[in-house]
Amino acid sequence: MSDYWSQYWKQGHLTSFGEEIKGNYQGLLADTWKAFFKNNDDTASILDIGTGNGALLALARDVYKNSCLVGIDSATLSITQELAVDSKITFYSNIKAESLPFDDAKFDVGVSQFGIEYSNLTLAIPELSRVLKSGAKFQFVLHDNQSSIVKPNNLILEAAHELNAQEGALTRMERMIQEIGLHGDSSTGAEIERVKLNQSLGELVAKNRQGIWGTNFPAFLKYVMSKNWGAERRLEMLSLFKKELLGQVERLTDLIDASLTESKYQQLTDLCADSSLEISEFALLNENDNIIARKVNGFKK
Ligand SMILES: C[S@@+](CC[C@H](N)C(=O)[O-])C[C@H]1O[C@@H](n2cnc3c(N)ncnc32)[C@H](O)[C@@H]1O
Repeated sequence: MSDYWSQYWKQGHLTSFGEEIKGNYQGLLADTWKAFFKNNDDTASILDIGTGNGALLALARDVYKNSCLVGIDSATLSITQELAVDSKITFYSNIKAESLPFDDAKFDVGVSQFGIEYSNLTLAIPELSRVLKSGAKFQFVLHDNQSSIVKPNNLILEAAHELNAQEGALTRMERMIQEIGLHGDSSTGAEIERVKLNQSLGELVAKNRQGIWGTNFPAFLKYVMSKNWGAERRLEMLSLFKKELLGQVERLTDLIDASLTESKYQQLTDLCADSSLEISEFALLNENDNIIARKVNGFKK
């Protein structure tokens, strides 16, 4: 995995939803966590796996008045001043869920939201169990492969792969720009390439409109071709677009690999059972008839 999460957190976001969420999580996600937190002793020590910039611990600190709250993440975090000065909370950057720098049986509570599923669960689940006390509670809110968060990104990923394909729209756009540059906008060569590109794009839109718009390619194409730029400038912009698209493919591939399918959920439950983590509750979190996540909680035997 490249370091895109460190770059992301550096932009100052508190949650993993970027500009979509102002401030911290609200609605069902926040309510789910508040309900879980209030069932624990307010002096409990709590570990958050894949904490990001600490959105979950920011919710937890209102409940756990006298606790020790710890967040770990494999990325380099950029914690806001407000959380960084809270002496109850400690953040550890560049620490992986698969290998935790804590003694056995240190924590009363283990939590993770859209975090632990990115790790290698075969290592991370026994590791979490190791650092939890006997009787400790845990709760995960996990990406679900069928959720309204993951599904649209699946469509964007499919569209990005098609754009990138050998004779895909990106190659066709490049050829069209070269033809226009060499022989002019109204040359036969340019017209042939323009028709091929429009055909390719038309097919993509017919097949996966939401995904193709999600890649931003139609708006990019319109912008580049509507200005009177030379071929060199246009090719430079295309190369930048390709680079960004590759970054997007990497991020979305990780998200989709992380999200729970039935078989990944089965793997998680088997690993929990093998690591003395008893699952008490499993639920799909639904908001406005849309699945937004899976909730799994329980305790260490
Ligand atoms: C979707 S973000 C969630 C952040 C935060 N929990 C939230 O709800 O806003 C996923 C986080 O998991 C972290 N992560 C990915 N793989 C990890 C691993 N193996 N160990 C620890 N953290 C990991 C990423 O760096 C990223 O910060």
